[in-house]
Parts: sequence; C-alpha cells; structure tokens
Amino acid sequence: MARMRVGVLTGGGDCPGLNAVIRSVVRRGIAVHGMQIVGFADGWRGPLEGLTVPLDERRVQGIESVGGTILGSSRTNPAALPDGIERVRANLAAAGIDALVAIGGEDTLGVAAELARVGVDVVGVPKTIDNDLSGTDYTFGFDTAVNIAVEAFDRLRTTAESHHRTLVVEVMGRHAGWIALHAGLAGGATVTLIPEAPFDLDEVAAWVSACAATGRAPLVCVAEGAVPQETGLVTRDDSIDAFGHVKLSGIADRLAGQLERRTGIESRSVVLGHLQRGGPPTAFDRVLATRLGLCAIDSVAAAEFGVMAALHGTEVGTVPLTAAVGTLKTVPMDRYEEARVFFGT
Ligand code: F6P
Repeated sequence: MARMRVGVLTGGGDCPGLNAVIRSVVRRGIAVHGMQIVGFADGWRGPLEGLTVPLDERRVQGIESVGGTILGSSRTNPAALPDGIERVRANLAAAGIDALVAIGGEDTLGVAAELARVGVDVVGVPKTIDNDLSGTDYTFGFDTAVNIAVEAFDRLRTTAESHHRTLVVEVMGRHAGWIALHAGLAGGATVTLIPEAPFDLDEVAAWVSACAATGRAPLVCVAEGAVPQETGLVTRDDSIDAFGHVKLSGIADRLAGQLERRTGIESRSVVLGHLQRGGPPTAFDRVLATRLGLCAIDSVAAAEFGVMAALHGTEVGTVPLTAAVGTLKTVPMDRYEEARVFFGT
C-alpha cells in the first residue's frame, strides 16, 4: 500500500513552539504511522504557489528548543483571492498530498475550516502567543510570551525605582488581553489595561499617583489593543494586512505622555513587541506543542478530519475546527476583576 503523504504548514505570526509541533508531527508520522511528511513554505503561500520543503526525521532533530519555524510563515490569505481556495486544493492534489496539518491561529485555521468545507482533509493545531483561540484552554507560545514580559517587568522595575519614574509597558494582544493580564499579575503591575475593558485616563492617573505616594515606582501594563474611552483604538497607520487587521502599537507612548502631564511624575514607555515572539519556548510550551502535534497526526492516521487538536485541563483531544474559529476567546470580566484588587499598588 502506498504511504500516506501528509503536508504541514505554519501560518500567521510566528510563535515559540512551532518547531516542536513540526518535530512531533514528523517523528510520529514517520516512525509510528509510516507516513511521508511534506512541508509547505511560508504558511498558505506554500500550497498556493506549490512551494514544498523536504522534511525527514533528521531535519527535525533538536528543533524543539528553537524558536520561529523552519518552514517559514506568512499572513497570505487564499480566501481573499477569487480562486485562492481552489488553487490550494489543486496544488495539494498535484503534490499528491492526502491530508494537511495546518498550524496557526484564528486566521490560518479559518482558511483550514474553509478548505475542510470544500472537502480537503485537514487537521488544525492551535498557535498564538495571544492565547485568544476558542476551543482550547491554552495555545502554545503564550507561556513563553508571558515569561518574557514578566522578566522585562522585573528589569524595568529596578530602573523605574532608581529614577522615581512611571514606566508604561506595552505587550502584544490585539483583541484579547491575556498576555497583559498574566504579565501584569505576575509582574506586579500598578494597573493593567486590556482591549476588553476600555479605560478612563483619569482613573489610570489616580492609580499611578496612589502607587507613587507609597514610594513605589508605578508600572503600567498595557495591551497594544487597549482602548482609551476618550479617543478609541490607537493605530500605527491606516494600512491593513491580508486578513484585514490594522497595525497597532503606540498606545504606551501616548499613555506615558498623558500620565506624565496628569500626575507630574516623569514617565517612559517600552514596547516589548516581537521580543515576545522570539527565542526558545518555555518547557511548558515545548511539552504542549509536542502533545498537540502528536494528537494532530494521530487524528490524520485515524481519518478524523475537520478538527483541531486542543488542550482541556491536562488532556489533549480534538474539537471541530468550526468551534475554534469565528469567535475569539477574550478575557472574561471576572478574571479582570481578580487583577483590579492590586491596581494602585
Ligand atoms: O500573532 C499575533 C500577534 O502577536 C498580535 O498580538 C500582534 O498584533 C501581531 O501578531 C503583530 O504581528 P506582525 O507585526 O508580525 O504582523
């Protein structure tokens, strides 16, 4: 019997742990299921343009500790092209691909769900540092991003204390404030601002002043998508990507100036940006990514398609792809309330 040929791709913003999933899919796919694994380059651009990358057990040795993705990534959206989905389907067939493992977030898996709808055998793996994908308790990459942010907080605190300054720290999180919530709690933020709860500048200034009055340097943790009630979302420019997202960033800088004027305390801003997506994954993310990869390739072997590998509690299993896309998993207000008790300290 011919060996099953399985494609694998990584799409969207990269994220620590992608390589651990690839290793897991390749190792178990070949060693346990006797499959051939074919990489596709740069997210959906690979199947769209027929760009393949050879993968074998040797190629994936040791990559679990390496950030980024050996396959490359992009925000290419075939669904935005008139014949994009059909081209992907035709190129997969031309490459003799029997099934595809798509590793990505809301956008990448939205395309996977569309392909599943038109009859392509596809299994998803949830990835995003933002942790905003529905259908899974956690996405890999999130733990690494939070740890990087918390280390930054610990470092910024000492310099802020030395200079009696306020430091406003911007973390990623376009629609969901999970990174901000966790980093703010673990890093002892004076106030944490998330996209889900538009904030009042005067209230933030009052928390900053209250903290400074105790002799402590205020640290403000702000998600890039946090929204000032007065002005609305802060964007970098008017450009949008293939999935229709505007470029964010700039909220920390704006906030630092406004807080300095309101409180009279010298203020500085820091944007952590892509630092949060780079470098080696934490042990937690390596293990989670590995387990999700094993689950995905086992689903392919069992001919269970149109699903996504997911974490529920400590168990890894599958959910329908349609349950993962369409609605983002945002921070519930009761979780934000937990953090609010520390505001002003
Ligand atoms: O992957 C999601 C994300 O980390 C968002 O939080 C952020 O807005 C976006 O990526 C930025 O990605 P890029 O600059 O690579 O387009």
